[in-house]
Amino acid sequence: MKIIVLLVLFPCLIFIDSINAQSNGAKLFTSKCTACHTIGGGNLVGPDLANIQNIRSEEWITNFIKSPQKVIDSGDSAAVALLNEFKIVMPDQPLSNTEIKSIIDYIATNSPDKNNPNQKTPNQIFNASLATNSDVIKGKEIFEGETKLKNGGPSCIACHNVDNANVFTGGLLAKDLTLAFSRLSAAGIDGILRNPPFPAMIDAFANAPLTDDEISALLAFFYYSNNAGMLQTSTLQNQSDLLVSLIIGLDIFIVFLLIMWKRVKKRSVNFFNN
Ligand code: HEC
Ligand code: HEC
Repeated sequence: MKIIVLLVLFPCLIFIDSINAQSNGAKLFTSKCTACHTIGGGNLVGPDLANIQNIRSEEWITNFIKSPQKVIDSGDSAAVALLNEFKIVMPDQPLSNTEIKSIIDYIATNSPDKNNPNQKTPNQIFNASLATNSDVIKGKEIFEGETKLKNGGPSCIACHNVDNANVFTGGLLAKDLTLAFSRLSAAGIDGILRNPPFPAMIDAFANAPLTDDEISALLAFFYYSNNAGMLQTSTLQNQSDLLVSLIIGLDIFIVFLLIMWKRVKKRSVNFFNN
């Protein structure tokens, strides 16, 4: 019996884990590193980490993130030079190797291309914590073709669908993009929109490239539709919560009625007795 429970539970956990792992690097970097580091945006309290994966070994980065002081104390010349330049020691980050790996992957996919230094990084184009409702709406209107693309490309909805109560049903010619954000990440979608690898999209956009602004709004829209998709279960949860509070409310109301009924009965008895 217990074994059956484990057998059912285990794949579920792995599934949830794999959903998490994809966005983990982004989440960790945003919550623990952006106060002091950018990826391609210049130095802050600490150095710009763009392409750090090509500059130092994974082992060095991992040791450094866990305990900068230890690496400095070991006499490592790179670490000592960094301290001399930035003057403060970065605080220890108690992260696991897997977490650090996911951060390095995130930095790697979000680093600017050395051959094309003026191109904005996906990180500069789209930042989930800065995306506003109006970005999402702008993206939705671009997706649906309500706002025409600046360079004249066709609207996405001609070929794609996104499941969202606020969007008309779109084309079924190409993949449904409701969960594109968690499937591909901002960097992945950004790359596809800039250099489409699919013949149908190459034909559509080769001579009508999307602008940074349009890509940024589309990413906000995909981020939203992705999370709305993910949130469906918690909406169900909310609905069942609502049901429970309705039932409790109804119970309280019935008890109230019973009490009132007893009082009315008592009073009417008294009334007849007087
Ligand atoms: C409070 C500010 C602060 C935070 C938070 C912080 N760092 Fe740092 N980081 C620094 C400073 C300052 C340096 C320069 C080296 C030194 O003196 O410690 C540095 C250096 C580094 C280096 C070496 C860069 C190079 O050029 O070799 C890496 C890699 C790094 N940080 C990664 C991270 C990651 C990943 C996080 C988040 C998990 C993080 N840091 C969080 C301040 C910070
Ligand atoms: C002429 C049809 C067409 C148009 C217009 C079009 N696409 Fe595509 N798109 C495709 C095809 C075909 C594929 C490749 C595979 C598939 O999804 O069937 C694709 C793939 C993609 C993918 C990768 C999907 C994945 O999960 O692998 C993304 C993201 C995407 N398109 C975004 C867009 C956006 C955003 C627009 C509007 C700016 C757009 N597309 C307009 C036909 C189109």
